This record gives sequence, structure tokens and C-alpha cells, in this order.
Amino acid sequence: MRIKARSTPNIALIKYWGNRNNELRLPRADSLSITLDAPTIEVEIESAEDFSVQSFDASGIEKPQSEKSIARLRAHYELTKTYLTSLRVADTLPAYLHLVIRSRIPQAIGIASSAAVFSCLAEAYAGFLSLPLTREQISVLARLGSGSAARSVLGGFVALENIAGDDIGSARARQIAPEHHWILHDIILVPSQKEKKVGSTEGHAMAATSPFFEERLRQIPRRMNECIDAITRKDFEKLQRVSEEDTLDMHRCMRTQNPPLDYLSDETHRIIRGIEAFRGKEKLEVLYTMDAGPTVHLFCTDAARKTVEEYAETQKNCMIFKAKGGGGSRLIPACR
Ligand code: DP6
Repeated sequence: MRIKARSTPNIALIKYWGNRNNELRLPRADSLSITLDAPTIEVEIESAEDFSVQSFDASGIEKPQSEKSIARLRAHYELTKTYLTSLRVADTLPAYLHLVIRSRIPQAIGIASSAAVFSCLAEAYAGFLSLPLTREQISVLARLGSGSAARSVLGGFVALENIAGDDIGSARARQIAPEHHWILHDIILVPSQKEKKVGSTEGHAMAATSPFFEERLRQIPRRMNECIDAITRKDFEKLQRVSEEDTLDMHRCMRTQNPPLDYLSDETHRIIRGIEAFRGKEKLEVLYTMDAGPTVHLFCTDAARKTVEEYAETQKNCMIFKAKGGGGSRLIPACR
């Protein structure tokens, strides 16, 4: 049997940073994101004699995965089987798989592909089973490969929430509102094409060394409530306030943890200052948010889109990508 699935990245408004269990990627706090409609990742899986991976980049050229990436994919598959055993469905997954990963995420976009890859794999693994899993269970499968991937299993505005207990299933995604509830555009400004030196997995593990981390954890429940309220009421001003507060706070934690992680560049700060100056002059429904890199995501409403795109075009030495809210990971049924 061959199973094919498709998924996309998501961008957090309330950021996930720091774990209570690094191996199981159980976050210390809840987070909330918008699933994007592009760019896509597709995976195809079938049973094999050994665990093997083939991957192709956006231009269809085969790009072998590093040993570290293959080890992560393999560890994810093993954790998947452990979780399915706890649900009593493990016997329906083969011992080994051949994975084909096709990424349409341009190398330079500055969006981590891990959320799209692991949500896509979770979808495909679930597609192999004789009993259907719930979307929440599939989000747990995704989380075991990359914490933020749990959120890409669902469409629109999605929270990754901790629930009672410490077991493998005790953090999972929940949809706050579907993508059509409120159309927001993501105008993505990519100032740098350099590979980041330290990835999120290593960064999460050291988050608690920041003197600001405990305070961050105290603030997250309030920010989650405000963010959910802003989304429910489509209150852009409130969404902007709380999400910018959170992104700046996460980057302060990153910069002050040991070893320090300063993902933002001079260009990032220049773009942010430009947006703030713009908003000082006229009412513009746009907010900025940054993940573990210098890329700036400018989320805006339909009404502000044209002006934000024009602003983006004026930024020198930046690549621009555009996306909007999307529907989350899916099986591609024609291949079943
Ligand atoms: C800064 O999900 O990339 O983008 O679980 O190690 O794969 P791993 O971490 P990852 O962490 C994402 C961190 C972030 C914020 C966010 O997306 O919430």
C-alpha cells in the first residue's frame, strides 16, 4: 500500500518556546498559530525492507537528507509506533518504510519546513491504519516529530494545548476558528538566505536558562485568552498588540538564554521600525511576527493587503513570498 499526503507550514502568533519533555516535545506552555495555504510539502510512504528516505527540493532536484535529519525521521517513526501502541493500533504499521518527501518550500524562504514535513508524515502514517484516528490524535503524531507541526494538522487558527498529565498524548492541537472565519494574508519578507546555525530543537532545550523564561510562562495564559478573543471577535488591533508582545518576548528569551540565540538581523529591525512608523501615520491593519530566523511575517487584513504589499516591495535586498490562511494537512486520496 502506498499513501500520499500534503501539508503546509504554520506561523505562530503566540509562540511555542521551551519543553517540559524534550524527547516527546511536550511544550511548557500553549501556543497558537495560523496554518498557511502555501508553500506545500508532499510525502509518499510505502512499506520497505529498511527505513529509507528520498527527498526532492522545490525545483524537483533530489536533495539527500543529512544523517541527522534521517535519524530524526526514524526516531519520529519509532515514537509514532509507541504512541499507536498506547492507542492499541500499532500492529497495522509496517516495521520499516520508504519515505519520499517533495518540498515546494523554497530554500530561501526562511520558513522552517519541519512543521509541514512532520504534519504531512503524521497524516500519511494515520492513512496507513485500518482504524481512523481523530484529528487530535494525528496532531499528537505530528508533535512527536516537531512541536509546531501539531498545529499544521488543522486549518485556520489553531492552538497547541497542554492537557492534564505527562503522557505522550498530553499536548494536542485544537482549532480555534477555520481559515474562512477571517481571511488574513501573510506577506513574508526574507532578508537573509543564510542557514541558521542553531535550530529550534536545540534552542527549546535551553529556553529555561533565560532569566525571563518563567515570567514568559506566567504571561502566556493571558496572551492565549486575548489572542483567542481577538480572533473570535476579529479584533485586529487586539491581535496585533498581543502577538507583537509575544514575539518580542520570545526573542528576548532567546537572546538571554545560554548559549544566547539572536535570530533577528539589522534588516529585521529595520522592517519592524518601518511598519511601526507606517502605523504611526495611518491606521493600517498589519502585525509583524518572527520565528527562529530574521524573516518577518506581516499578517494583514484584506483591506490593508495592497498597502502592505507596496511597503514590502520597497524593502531592499528582501525576497517576498505571499500566503494566507489554509486548511491544514490532508491525505491525497487518488493514491490510496
Ligand atoms: C520559534 O516546532 O521548530 O517557530 O519541536 O524542535 O521542531 P521542534 O521545534 P519547532 O519550534 C518552533 C519554534 C518557533 C515558534 C512557534 O512556531 O511556535
